[in-house]
This record gives sequence, structure tokens and C-alpha cells, in this order.
Amino acid sequence: MPVKRILRLLFWLVAGLMTGTTCLPAQVQANYEEEKVPAFALPDPLRNGDGLMINDSNEWVHSRRPELLQLFEREVYGKLPDETLTPDYTLLENGIALGGKAVRKQIRLTFENNGRRLDLLLLVYLPAGMDKAPVFVGLNFYGNQTITADPAVLLTTSWVPNNKTFGIEANQATETSRGVRISRWPLEKIIDAGYGLATMYYGDIDPDRDDFTDGVHPLFYRDGQTRPDADEWGAIGAWAWGLMRIMDYLQQDSAIDADRIVLMGHSRLGKAALWAGAQDRRYAIVISNDSGCGGAALSRRKFGETVQIINTAFPHWFCSHFKDYNDRENDLPVDQHELIALVAPRPVYITSAQEDQWADPKGEYLSGWYASPVYALFGLQGLESATPPAVNDPVMHDIGYHMRTGGHDVKDYDWEQFINFANHHLK
Ligand code: GCU
Repeated sequence: MPVKRILRLLFWLVAGLMTGTTCLPAQVQANYEEEKVPAFALPDPLRNGDGLMINDSNEWVHSRRPELLQLFEREVYGKLPDETLTPDYTLLENGIALGGKAVRKQIRLTFENNGRRLDLLLLVYLPAGMDKAPVFVGLNFYGNQTITADPAVLLTTSWVPNNKTFGIEANQATETSRGVRISRWPLEKIIDAGYGLATMYYGDIDPDRDDFTDGVHPLFYRDGQTRPDADEWGAIGAWAWGLMRIMDYLQQDSAIDADRIVLMGHSRLGKAALWAGAQDRRYAIVISNDSGCGGAALSRRKFGETVQIINTAFPHWFCSHFKDYNDRENDLPVDQHELIALVAPRPVYITSAQEDQWADPKGEYLSGWYASPVYALFGLQGLESATPPAVNDPVMHDIGYHMRTGGHDVKDYDWEQFINFANHHLK
């Protein structure tokens, strides 16, 4: 452990003991005023740890990119396991959907290790009669059965957060939740546009609660380990791992064009999508929808949700080291524009919603802006101005962006732009 970190921990420990309080400073209020955004200097994506400038794409790929990935691993999301597990794929069901427009398959991905077993349920729709379909991939929040009214879709059997409206009690999904999230997944629009959709419940990979005895983590523990080390993966890392396992599956499915897979994630799953897309270059395009703090939004702006707020409300999302940066954003060796830059040279699309101030729309835009010099190294076009475009006026460069009217959600409008962006870059 570096000396600086030990000293910081000692400081909080002594302060806590002297005051009889916990070791963490008191909860702070979120700031929503632009004038109160602190002055900050962002780390330069084009200057490496030795202070040397990165001059071309080759230096970026071989020197700076690995260095940044390591920093995000160690300080923010935690490292994924090195060990590769070979899953079993079981086709549980397949059939015709959307009145013949689409084919549906449901595949179980089974992983076994350390005497533990993990089952992931993947739902795939592909345009009927299409050879080698490009596919959108996205995790969902309450089970595959929520994204469509299709009665053939299997209910998740994993732990699900209770939700009265969705009929989820005792943490088990029921029929009542079928189709409750249709509005976020315009399946027919996606199929009509010539894309498939692959989705999985994120709780299959790791239930979203501060508990490291469930989900994927225990499959990789060494003897006696009960939770990840301070620089090992939290829940966002686990969801990102799951997204990579989905990609493994898609790559060996001959009906799918594995070179045209678009990764999309909303909110906490947008954070996971960015982290997966940054690491896994097999994803051709990465889309972050309203991903906010720990996603596309710059941490140093401290606008809306902050590092301290997110680490307090969701202590299991990031690696433990990230908590060292509670209210110390300026000490972070990275900021989120560098996560966006890690997607380069692949196209990346960032969205915000006007009323979603918690996620800091301007901070989400600025990440794209400050990642643009990295895209320029590849001769690609990032964002052109430090000022976000007008609402509902999408920018579709190699870094794309839109700010939609309305709140924190995934709307048809968003999907229309995702499809436009994918068409623009893949067709
Ligand atoms: C909370 C959390 C956000 C997250 C969001 C979501 O609001 O603070 O960081 O993005 O949930 O996932 O919907």
C-alpha cells in the first residue's frame, strides 16, 4: 500500500477515534449551481505518468492506454480477475417473435469455479431471415421479462430488489413484472432498423446490494477470501465482466455479426457499459445513457452526485480504493474524460437528459469534449466546442452527444439516435 494512502487512512482513523465519529466525513449536499463548480485542472490524457507527451496513436495504444486502464482498475472500478472460465451454453428456448419479424433465443451461460456456480440468462432477438445481424447489447434492471410482453420470455430467478408496482416481493420476480420496462426497450423499432437485441438481467451477474457472498465474485476468491481486495472489482466491475461474457457468446453465434456489436447502458448500467467498452475492444460502439457520476460525468466538477455521495449510497459499486477520493476528487490520477478516451478509436455516444441534473449533463458532455484530443490522434472527429449543443440536437461525430428534454430515463428518442449513430458508423 503506498505511504500516502496509509497516512490518509491513519488520519481518518485518528480523527474518528478522537471525535467518537465514524472514519468518514459527514455527508455533503449536492451542488446544482454552475457558479459553485470548483476550479479544477483535469489530468491530461495525452501526457503519460512520466510527464511525456503522447504524440501519435501508436504511443496512445501502446503506452498511455494501458497506463490509464491500470489507473481506472486500481483506483476506481477495481481489477477484473485474470482467470478465464469456460462456460457452458445451453439453448433453453427459441422461437418466432413479433409476428414473424424476429427470432428469439434464450441461452443460459453457466460458469463453475471454486465449487460455486453462476447462471446467466441471455435473451436474444434477431431480425428474421437476416444473415449476420448487427446487435445492440444492454443489461436490464429487473429481469429479461420486463423488456417485452412476449410471454415466452423466462422470468429471472435471481434476487431482484423489491418493487410493489412491479409485483416484486420477497426479492423474486413474478408475472406482474412482465413488460413493465417496455418503454425503455423499443424492440420492434430495433428489429425494423435491422439490428438484433441481446439483453441480460444485471442481477444475474451480481445482485445490486452490498454483499460480496453472492453473484460472480465468490467464483474467483482465493482460499479464505470473503470480499474483493481494495483494488479488486466491485459490482460495476462485475457487470462489466458480464458484458464481456455476453460478447464471448455473441462471437461464437454464427447468426450474429460480432464485428458490429453496439454496447448500450443506462445510468449505473451506463457506468458498467463504459467500463466494459473501455476494456473490451470487441465492442464496436459504446453508448452511455445518463450514466452520471462514475460514468461519463467529470468527477472534479462535483455537480449533482459526487464521489463521496455515490460511495456512501452504493459502497459496493466501485473498488474500495475509490473511497479514498471522497471529497478529494483533485487527487484522482484520472477523470472520466479518460474513460471516454479509452473507447477510441471506436465511436462513442454520450447522452444526457435536461432534467437529470443529478447526473450532471454538462459534465457528461465535457468528458466527450476533453476526450476529443485523443480521437484527433487517430484523425477522428470528437466534439467541436466546449459548449453543449441545444437540446434535442444530436451530434454524430466519432464522439457523439445529445441532450434530450425530460428526465432520467431511456426514451424512444434516445433509441432513435442510438440507431442513427450505429447506422452512421456501421453501415
Ligand atoms: C442513483 C445513483 C446513480 C445511478 C442511478 C441509476 O440515482 O445515484 O449514480 O446512475 O441511481 O442507476 O438509476
